[in-house]
Amino acid sequence: MELTAATAADAPDMAAVHAQAFDKPWDEADFDALLDGGSGVFGFVVRGEDPAGVLVCRTRRRGVGQALMTAALGVARQAGAQAVFLEVDVGNSGAVALYERLGFHRAGLRRGYYDRGAAGRADALVMRLDLTSGPD
Ligand SMILES: CC(C)(COP(=O)(O)OP(=O)(O)OC[C@H]1O[C@@H](n2cnc3c(N)ncnc32)[C@H](O)[C@@H]1OP(=O)(O)O)[C@@H](O)C(=O)NCCC(=O)NCCS
Repeated sequence: MELTAATAADAPDMAAVHAQAFDKPWDEADFDALLDGGSGVFGFVVRGEDPAGVLVCRTRRRGVGQALMTAALGVARQAGAQAVFLEVDVGNSGAVALYERLGFHRAGLRRGYYDRGAAGRADALVMRLDLTSGPD
């Protein structure tokens, strides 16, 4: 067994392994785009006689979510909005932390708000940001 870090050159093998495991597989172009080196994605390929297994990860937390939210809140402020509300899965601790950092506060709970299919339903936190006091 040989385990190597994945590169775009592995895209055909990764697509082949993926197609054995999923009904709607990612194709070679999908893996090629993911592994282009600029999107925070990394992966590994295990080969035996044939490609035997693949893993793909994406690193986040590079300021993208905060930049998007800050831009959106800026537009809302300019449009004269006084408050912003959003819903977020109660278990999505990363997103909750992001919103709290931006000044959102927990304002309520919507039980069973998200349909998770076979996993059942999940509650949503309602979060509110007051825009009348200026950016944090
Ligand atoms: C939640 C999500 C939007 C965060 O975006 P991101 O680009 O990874 O986050 P950022 O780099 O902008 O993080 C900004 C701050 O948010 C907080 N934060 C973000 N992700 C976090 C995590 N996983 N755990 C704890 N805090 C987190 C931190 O305070 C972070 O600042 P720091 O890195 O200086 O500590 C992103 O993980 C994502 O897209 N998740 C899947 C989709 C989703 O859940 N969307 C929200 C639906 S309501």
